Amino acid sequence: MYRHFFGLSERPFDLTTNPRFLFLSSGHREALSLLHYGLAGDKGITVLIGEAGTGKTTLVRAALSHYQGSEVVSLYLNNPMLTRQEFYEFVAHGMGLGAEVAQSKTMFLRELDDLLSQRRQAGILTALIVDEAQAIPTEILEEIRMLANLESSTTKHLSILLTGQPELAARLNEAALAPLKQRVALRTTLPPFGLQETACYLAMRIRVAGGEPSTIFYRSAVEQIHHVSKGIPRTINVICDNALITAFALRMKPVSTDVITEVCTDLDVHVGGAEPVQTEAQAPRPGAAAPEDVERREAPEATAVRLLGTPRPLSVIHHIEGNADRVKIEQAASESNETTRRGRTAIFSTAD
Ligand SMILES: Nc1ncnc2c1ncn2[C@@H]1O[C@H](COP(=O)(O)OP(=O)(O)OP(=O)(O)O)[C@@H](O)[C@H]1O
Ligand SMILES: [Mg+2]
Repeated sequence: MYRHFFGLSERPFDLTTNPRFLFLSSGHREALSLLHYGLAGDKGITVLIGEAGTGKTTLVRAALSHYQGSEVVSLYLNNPMLTRQEFYEFVAHGMGLGAEVAQSKTMFLRELDDLLSQRRQAGILTALIVDEAQAIPTEILEEIRMLANLESSTTKHLSILLTGQPELAARLNEAALAPLKQRVALRTTLPPFGLQETACYLAMRIRVAGGEPSTIFYRSAVEQIHHVSKGIPRTINVICDNALITAFALRMKPVSTDVITEVCTDLDVHVGGAEPVQTEAQAPRPGAAAPEDVERREAPEATAVRLLGTPRPLSVIHHIEGNADRVKIEQAASESNETTRRGRTAIFSTAD
C-alpha cells in the first residue's frame, strides 16, 4: 500500500528468505563460506549458531541454492519434534530408501551406508541439514551422531549441518552430547549487524525493491533502527515495514526518528530497558557515532562514508544467483567496494 508513495516496486522488508534480498555482512559472508565448505567437503559435522533472527535459515537456503540440481543432495530437517522412529522414517524417505528400511535400525544404517558410498563414488555428496537444532531431543542428536559415523577409511559419507540459537552451544556442552561435540569439525557464530552493516542492509533492500534509500529514511532514523534492533535482521525488517506503513499514513518522508519511536512503542520493541528508544531530539546528530560503534570508527569525519561504506551486498547477491564459487565472492566483494567508493556520496539523508 505504501509502495507508490515511496517509489518502490515491491515491499523491501518482507520476512522471507528471498535470495534477491540476500545481504552478506562480513559475519554472514564468513558463515556462508563455512556452510559451503561443510556441505561440499567431507568434514563431518558443521555447526552454525546465532541469535533468533540473525539469518541462519536464510544462509542455509542460500548455501543450498548454490548446489541446486548439482553435485550435492541435501535433506533439510526443521521439525525438532520427531520421535526416534519418525526421524529414521524421515531420513529413509528423504534419501529415497523404502519405508520398510526404517523399521530396522541395522538395516537402515546398512542401506544408507551403501547408498551414500555409491553416491560418493559417483561424485555426489549428501548432506543432512538440521535447522532449529537447539530444540532437537537428545536421543535424536544421538542418532545424528550415529549417522556422522558413516564413513569409509578415507572419507565421511554424510555432511551434517546443525544450525541453532545459542542454546545449541549450551546443549553441546552437556555430558551426554560430548561424543557429538567431539565430531564437530567446523563451527561458527553468526553475529548481528554493526551500524554500517545495518545501513547497507537497509539501502540494499530498498534498492532491490526499486527505491532510493536517501528519500526513504533519515540517517538518524537508520541509526535508531540499528540501536533498537541491535542489528538483528528480522527485527530490522519488522520495524522498517511498520515504519513505512506509519509514515505513509502520515504522508511523511523520509522516515524520521519520531516515526521509529512510535512504531517501536507500538511493537513493544525497546533496547533492554536500560537504553530507551530515542526521540528525534535525543537521536545522534548526523555523523555522530552510535555508542557501540565508536570503537570501529577511524575518524569522525569518515563517518558519512563509513556508514554507507560496507561493500558487498549487490554483487554477492549475483554470486548466489549465479552459482559462482568462493573466489568469485571475494572478487565480487572488492569490485562492489570500488563501485561503492566511486559511485556514491550519501545513502541516507542527514537533513533532519
Ligand atoms: N543476510 C540476510 N540477508 C537478507 N535478509 C536477511 C538476512 N538475514 C536475515 N534476513 C531477514 O531476516 C529474516 C529472519 O532471518 P532467519 O529466518 O534466517 O533467521 P534465523 O537466524 O534462522 O532465526 P531463528 O533462529 O528464529 O530461526 C529473514 O526472513 C530475512 O527476511
Ligand atoms: Mg531459522
